[in-house]
Amino acid sequence: MPSVAMAGLLEESPTARESWTPFRSRTKSPYAGAWIALNAPRRVEPAPGFAILIDVHRGHPPPHGEQGRPTLTRHTPRPRRGNGALPLPLLFRGKVRDVYAVPDDGAAQADATTLPTPHLLLVATDRVSAFDVVMREPVPDKGRVLTQITTWWLSTHLSDIPNHLVSVRPDEIRRAVPGLAACPEAWEGRATLVRRTRPLPVECVVRGYLSGSAWKEYRESGTLAGERLPPGLAESDPLVPAIFSPSTKAQEGHDENITFEQVADLLGGNLASRLRARSLDIYERGRAAAGEAGIILADTKFEFGTTPDGDLLLIDEVLTPDSSRFWPREHYAPGRAQPSLDKQPVRDYLETLPDWDKQYPPPPLPPDVVAATSERYRNVFQRLTGTDLDAYEPPRFDPGGTAP
Ligand SMILES: Nc1ncnc2c1ncn2[C@@H]1O[C@H](COP(=O)(O)OP(=O)(O)O)[C@@H](O)[C@H]1O
Ligand SMILES: [Mg+2]
Repeated sequence: MPSVAMAGLLEESPTARESWTPFRSRTKSPYAGAWIALNAPRRVEPAPGFAILIDVHRGHPPPHGEQGRPTLTRHTPRPRRGNGALPLPLLFRGKVRDVYAVPDDGAAQADATTLPTPHLLLVATDRVSAFDVVMREPVPDKGRVLTQITTWWLSTHLSDIPNHLVSVRPDEIRRAVPGLAACPEAWEGRATLVRRTRPLPVECVVRGYLSGSAWKEYRESGTLAGERLPPGLAESDPLVPAIFSPSTKAQEGHDENITFEQVADLLGGNLASRLRARSLDIYERGRAAAGEAGIILADTKFEFGTTPDGDLLLIDEVLTPDSSRFWPREHYAPGRAQPSLDKQPVRDYLETLPDWDKQYPPPPLPPDVVAATSERYRNVFQRLTGTDLDAYEPPRFDPGGTAP
């Protein structure tokens, strides 16, 4: 059971661990970056040269490093470029998304970071990460693909699942936030206006195939999410039925898998059961629809958040290649890791570099690798939806009219 969450600003340097400056701690909280960034009493956009650092300690009392400092479990240097340039207060910069507060009247108010606003603008940038390191080169169209795939799911196979989307259409977003008209290239097609929620501190992972950290857990202990699996399974074998294998949101890339009982301890049995049932339902619909397009949806991660009215909403990105493993059916063969439909060119290239240790700073990506990756993302959209990205018209959401 996590006992203390701390966040701080960490200087981006190899010796950064020496300059930890905590700015918030909260007992009995597993909350990670998003929660702190979105709910902290002051603006948390890091100063130039600094990164947001989030650490969640487990166990009681919290463990300390050798010199008596907190043990740091997550250090995420943030890229300094990208779309941070909208006339709105930037609340949080994730590996891929920039999250802005949308003040009620649409004006860019400096205090929107301190007052909770009912809406957020999520901007999916073209940043790409591999081995948990964000590359310097943007991948053209990647942000649009992620945004529009989420939109497509939420307006087709998942249209009855309560979710945060208010608008994806540039005309509607411009009406809600007139200041954005001045910089269309920075957000059109990649931004979504959403209802702001309090994200639940659990990643709702569903696995239909044995891969990644699940394969590792199984190989080491014969279990997944603490439950025993049949013996003799091979890497990438199907899991029937699919398994809810939640994790904490404490760390990127190396999220800690937790059991369903731990989710129930954190959130209550009722909410935990609802999360599991909803996640499995969405995954099964996604698996069926992707399967029709020749895509194996091996696993995926959902996030949910609660509104002040107590509604449970599906938030963040949904069934995208960044939040899921998409495998091309034609190359599927159990007993090994599978090639992915999207970032494979980046991973393959990085694996050819004997001197890179898969830590920051990232090596430069050659233009042909960037182009091949961009092409892959566009193809995923086309293959899944049957529509060319440029021809896709996002539908209207928000029939209840809650847009600002
Ligand atoms: N409707 C919402 N309300 C509050 N937070 C949200 C909502 N939708 C997404 N988020 C948060 O915004 C962040 C998106 O940024 P992202 O780049 O995906 O971050 P990360 O690097 O942590 O994956 C996530 O932390 C997610 O929890
Ligand atoms: Mg994310």
